[in-house]
Amino acid sequence: MCGIVGYIGGDLATPFLLEGLRRLEYRGYDSAGVASLDGSRMAVTRAVGRIERLAARLESEEHLGSIGIGHTRWATHGAATEQNAHPHLGGRGRVAIVHNGVIENHQQLRQQLENAGVTFQSETDTEVIAQLIEQHLGASAEDVDAAVTQEQLVSAVEATLKRLQGTYGLVVMCRDLPDLLVAARLGSPLVVGVGRHEHFIASDAAPLVGHTEKIVYLADRQLAIVKADSLHVREQHGGRVRHQVERLAVESEEVDLGDCPHYMLKEIFEQPDSLRNAMRGRLDDNDATAVFGGLNLRPQQLRQIDRIVLTACGTSWHAALLGEYLIEELARIPVEVEYASELRYRNPPMDNQTLLFAITQSGETADTLAALREVKRKGHPTLAICNVIGSSIAQEADGGVYLHAGPEIGVASTKAYTSQCVVLAMLALYFGRLRHLSFEQGQAAIEQLRALPDQVAEALRANDQVRRIAERYKDCANFLYLGRQFNFPTALEGALKLKEISYVHAEGYPAAEMKHGPIALVDSSTPSVFIIPRGSVYDKVMANLEEVKARGGPVIAVCSEGDDRVADLADDVIHVPDAPTWLQPIVSIVPLQMLAYHIALLRGCDVDKPRNLAKSVTVE
Ligand code: G6P
Repeated sequence: MCGIVGYIGGDLATPFLLEGLRRLEYRGYDSAGVASLDGSRMAVTRAVGRIERLAARLESEEHLGSIGIGHTRWATHGAATEQNAHPHLGGRGRVAIVHNGVIENHQQLRQQLENAGVTFQSETDTEVIAQLIEQHLGASAEDVDAAVTQEQLVSAVEATLKRLQGTYGLVVMCRDLPDLLVAARLGSPLVVGVGRHEHFIASDAAPLVGHTEKIVYLADRQLAIVKADSLHVREQHGGRVRHQVERLAVESEEVDLGDCPHYMLKEIFEQPDSLRNAMRGRLDDNDATAVFGGLNLRPQQLRQIDRIVLTACGTSWHAALLGEYLIEELARIPVEVEYASELRYRNPPMDNQTLLFAITQSGETADTLAALREVKRKGHPTLAICNVIGSSIAQEADGGVYLHAGPEIGVASTKAYTSQCVVLAMLALYFGRLRHLSFEQGQAAIEQLRALPDQVAEALRANDQVRRIAERYKDCANFLYLGRQFNFPTALEGALKLKEISYVHAEGYPAAEMKHGPIALVDSSTPSVFIIPRGSVYDKVMANLEEVKARGGPVIAVCSEGDDRVADLADDVIHVPDAPTWLQPIVSIVPLQMLAYHIALLRGCDVDKPRNLAKSVTVE
């Protein structure tokens, strides 16, 4: 949701800004813009819709500066119009600003500014920041027409930040200071890439890949003074901080599409590797358990835990639901799964020995971050299961586990989901081995985990067959997804994938619960997708499948290889390799990801950038 880029150095700024904005497209946006500075000439270009429209405009507009800022906006305050697109300027046109986050007291500030005679050009909360900086500059300069100095700009930015309530990641450029960008963050991430005689700024690492391997993660309440040859990071209103330059361990291939038509398909096919990466170095044969380097809690402390709360949003919430089945089964610890948006305000009673896991691909989801903070404030240990290194949730949790899935760019989560599931499976094994699981049981679980990537690779071979099935069902308006026990979360996740990218209504349900309502929807035009691999509930789910067939509903079944019983009954069958019951969902979700992908494609949808959705949801 919203993306920021900035450049200062010896090259033209706009090529990097445009390329960077393209790399941030996955976050979701509905307008985009750039501003650059050539001497004291500020050029600003904005466009509604895709980056390509902005790029087309830039061809006819002159942006010759080697300093600039850019933004993709996902509308919150005010519609997706050109006027509301960033960068926003202060009234005297001296400062341009790009901003991610939400300013909660913007109305009050806007009123104050309007009372002082300021005229606003947009409906956004961001413009309030630009106008405030401009106002503070006016107050500090003896002659309003005199050039602004670095000190004046920095103190105007700091004075403005003091008055803001809410969250921000922002970059300010000043017409009088073509050698300087000022960046600041509170609750919305910003990184600075360090190059040779140049610096790059972005809201996540993706735009930096291929430009530099040196990255600085700004922390909350830090302000960076960025020049081509220097970077100073200081606490807002405080002293200078020694910033850490870290290595950006992402390769260009990971953020570029290569020969693949869509990121989603690329990421679906990366799953055997992403699962291997999630498990690498974490399966310990000597102790027959999983090991994690970043939990930051001693086994003795974890042994005392008698309740686990898993909190998340969207697809990550589905992984959490599977986590509940896994941890309760292997470790016998009571688990609760909470939508982060509910947990943050629900105030549930929590015993002393409760551990919270926040599960999130991006590490930036506003509700998940708020839920984590609320539980942490109450003094409970908090851990994160997160993909994006250095993200807000990764920084704020007491410890955690990285997925190492590599950047996930398709808005619909695929490889991050299966990696979250496998990390939760390893955590279940770890907690189980702290308690009652025997050495032999631990060893068997490790062997089963090691076999998983090959089983997923095998499941991927059904892609052509899934495409043919998608052709038959692409025009249906409603789908039911039904699974039971470990595969109930698979049903929810399969339905969500279809909804997200094809805009077709789909509902996931526990197979047996279907009788209590959804069965009324069954008719010849409503396909039911059954997840029915071999296992303890096979016969029960089979009974539900027969109930659907008896009512004339078409059935697509995801079942085990060689299962003739299902093949005889179902209209279409997708075979998946047998995996142990607890790991089967990680295999069974694969054909459902492919089904959603092909149906969306056949319906002409923009698979990687579905309408209205954002990859990283940084507002409540
Ligand atoms: C958005 C994305 C989903 C994602 C959810 C939670 O809605 O479109 O794909 O599952 O946010 O995101 P997180 O980064 O916290 O896993």
